[in-house]
Amino acid sequence: MSEVRTGLGWDVHRLAAGRPLVLGGVTVPFELGLEGHSDSDVLAHAITDAILGAAALGDIGVHFPDSDPQWQGCDSLVFLRRARDLAEEQGYRIVNVDSTVVLERPKLNDFRDAIRERLAETLRLEKDRISVKFKTAEKMGPVGEGRSAEAQAVVSLQKLGSGPWHNAPGQGV
Ligand code: C5P
Ligand code: MG
Repeated sequence: MSEVRTGLGWDVHRLAAGRPLVLGGVTVPFELGLEGHSDSDVLAHAITDAILGAAALGDIGVHFPDSDPQWQGCDSLVFLRRARDLAEEQGYRIVNVDSTVVLERPKLNDFRDAIRERLAETLRLEKDRISVKFKTAEKMGPVGEGRSAEAQAVVSLQKLGSGPWHNAPGQGV
């Protein structure tokens, strides 16, 4: 059996006026957006941490410190792509990503495909390896009161060179 690793990621950002709502690299039209140092793409941050976690490579703050001005307003897909590259340098490929965005409003179902496509392109993965789900917090707590958004992600990595996929035609990274 080849080695398979699992990583967990979680993030939260406040919602504020005058900010874009960027989720998985897709800008969702809404009167509020996510506040923070980068573009504050809560979903991209959770998936980035899940990839780093699976490869035991620390966390997003170690690789992209928010004290560093180069990440100010930055497209968080840059973090995601870098995490993927770091994992790959350690000999891992991503098997799949599953994630949940918890946001009271707006409804996000119509954006699922666009988000999955953007993540697939960024991670250089087939779209069917990427799942994005949406939940409300049932009006409870800061998320439920519409003051913030959370995201959770789980990523599986497979060590290359030891698994059946490594030698299978058409399965190269
Ligand atoms: O949170 P709740 O269980 O009520 O969500 C029901 C469904 O509504 C979710 O499974 C998802 O399909 C959709 N949803 C959404 N956008 C949100 C929250 C939930 O599309 N912001
Ligand atoms: Mg974040």
